Amino acid sequence: MVMTITNEVLKNIYERRSVRAYADKSVPEELIREVIKAGLHAPNGANTQGIRFAVVTDRAKLKVYAEKGRLISLATFQAIQKQQPSDMAASVVKQLSNPNNDIFYSAPVAVFIFTTPYCITPVEDASLAAENMMLAARSLGLGSCWIGFARGLGQDAEFMSDLNIPADHQLVAPIIFGYPIREDMRPSVRDEPKILGWLK
Ligand SMILES: Cc1cc2nc3c(=O)[nH]c(=O)nc-3n(C[C@H](O)[C@H](O)[C@H](O)COP(=O)(O)O)c2cc1C
Repeated sequence: MVMTITNEVLKNIYERRSVRAYADKSVPEELIREVIKAGLHAPNGANTQGIRFAVVTDRAKLKVYAEKGRLISLATFQAIQKQQPSDMAASVVKQLSNPNNDIFYSAPVAVFIFTTPYCITPVEDASLAAENMMLAARSLGLGSCWIGFARGLGQDAEFMSDLNIPADHQLVAPIIFGYPIREDMRPSVRDEPKILGWLK
């Protein structure tokens, strides 16, 4: 007999999908704050708690930053394609060349996770916070998606100044949130875990 192991946490993990279609509905500030709090509760190197957050719910600014992020990433991938051509880079260049491509998918909330010089394991800290936040969001009925294409905003003077981000802070994880109008259509399947070794 195969025993089915399940609980709310596992269900939340297995059912989370990156959401790319959002309802035109604001997210209450308390929920955004709760999601950020969940991020801060993630494990972090030496418990420095060195990550910082910036939030944008201003619709006009979200459009401006999405467009900036698109153009920065387009330039990056055009350079990659020039240096080392690949189907992947060509496909990303094509995708980002479309001026109607809103890299934030009209989501009503973007939270940007920054690392500071206090972090001893910056990328790990920000990424763990991001996953905590995406799972917390799901548990609250919200969808989310990590937007790597927005990472270049961390080099944009206007963005950094608008949000009062000190120059020594690095943007690692831009995440969008909102109420999903549909879950992602791709099946939520993963390959079997590839366990390389297991000494018993
Ligand atoms: C570092 C990172 C960057 C990502 N950047 C983007 C992005 O710019 N745009 C996007 O639509 N999805 C992005 N994603 C989401 C992935 O495409 C998604 O997690 C992956 O396809 C697996 O699908 P799932 O999250 O629904 O399980 C990113 C995910 C990660 C972890």
